[in-house]
Amino acid sequence: MTVRVAVVGLGWAGRSIWLPRLVEHPDFDVVAVVDSEPVARATAARTWPGTRALADVSELDRDDVDLAVVAVPNHLHTTVACRLLAAGVPVFLEKPVCLSSAEADRLALAERDGGTVLLAGSAARYRADVLTLHETVASLGRLRHLDLAWVRSRGVPDAGGWFTRRDLSGGGALVDLGWHLLDTLTLLLGPVGFDQAVGTVSDDFLHNGAWSAAWRHDGPKPDAGGDVEDTARGFLVSDTGVSVSLRASWASHEPLDYTAITVEGSNGSATLRCTFGFSPNRAGGSVLTLTRDGEAVPVAVPEEPIGAEYRRQLDELPALLADPASKGLVIEDARRTIGVIERLYDSARPVPAQV
Ligand SMILES: NC(=O)c1ccc[n+]([C@@H]2O[C@H](COP(=O)([O-])OP(=O)(O)OC[C@H]3O[C@@H](n4cnc5c(N)ncnc54)[C@H](O)[C@@H]3O)[C@@H](O)[C@H]2O)c1
Repeated sequence: MTVRVAVVGLGWAGRSIWLPRLVEHPDFDVVAVVDSEPVARATAARTWPGTRALADVSELDRDDVDLAVVAVPNHLHTTVACRLLAAGVPVFLEKPVCLSSAEADRLALAERDGGTVLLAGSAARYRADVLTLHETVASLGRLRHLDLAWVRSRGVPDAGGWFTRRDLSGGGALVDLGWHLLDTLTLLLGPVGFDQAVGTVSDDFLHNGAWSAAWRHDGPKPDAGGDVEDTARGFLVSDTGVSVSLRASWASHEPLDYTAITVEGSNGSATLRCTFGFSPNRAGGSVLTLTRDGEAVPVAVPEEPIGAEYRRQLDELPALLADPASKGLVIEDARRTIGVIERLYDSARPVPAQV
């Protein structure tokens, strides 16, 4: 059965990630698009003629829609998703699913009371290289340490817009890139709790437009202010005694954007070097290396085009939507992820506001 879908939020993610993939996917039928901005609606109506363009989610009818893909700014995730869930509309919510544990509680209640399901958009765990790393982890023996870093060269999103305002974004690189890293950590390590969490944040690049993400085409903004971090580092210790080092950077002195994940175990270690996301400023291909007894052996990783993980995630959505066991699962993961983020921010000295 085709899933009738509405895309809510027609900004970069709605327009560039979801709509093109949903429109060409045989399992989905895009029946409506929703955006509060008239210009965004008019552009969508021109690009996807025949699709209803609405100004508010209240105009969606549960009988006409099987799923709402929600890609609005972070501070509206919970409000918009709760309104849809309360009306009985299943929701696929972009990351970060929530910005606080209190928001996680609100989403859990809305999912339960609406008798429907909340699904989440964190695509990194659907990457072929991450899935291969996951398979490799089984051969590493007892896990001791994981190191996860996503470091961009120049990639501050929409400086001066909502991404760099804490009240609208909930935080900087940690909330934005770190959410993907923590979701990947859950895949690799399992749903463990953390006894200890300590972090630092910095903003050495935020106030210089030269470090903005050119691929978003947000336009040049010399110093548009902002009060979030462009870099966050964290160290966690799980209740099973595994340590985790995290780094999320929107900008750095690196020449290229990269993601590096190392998993160390009693029988060896595995390192994946690749680039998450859509940045064109990347080294080609993913490299996975297994190191044991002084020998480093390459592990074959399937090559795939940039963004293939988003299509793979869509492939799995209809089954997740139909499975009653999906209920509550996203909230469980989101609670763990936002709990770690809250603790890292609590332990870090905040970056000063600059306007
Ligand atoms: N999964 C990923 O890899 C990925 C990548 C980029 C962005 N995102 C996420 O997608 C979300 C959107 O990011 P973006 O870069 O597209 O932002 P954006 O600012 O480009 O777009 C947001 C859109 O939402 C619209 N909007 C605001 N309030 C609304 C409301 N109440 N109802 C309907 N529409 C409303 C805005 O008018 C705008 O068009 C963010 O949460 C971001 O974290 C995820």
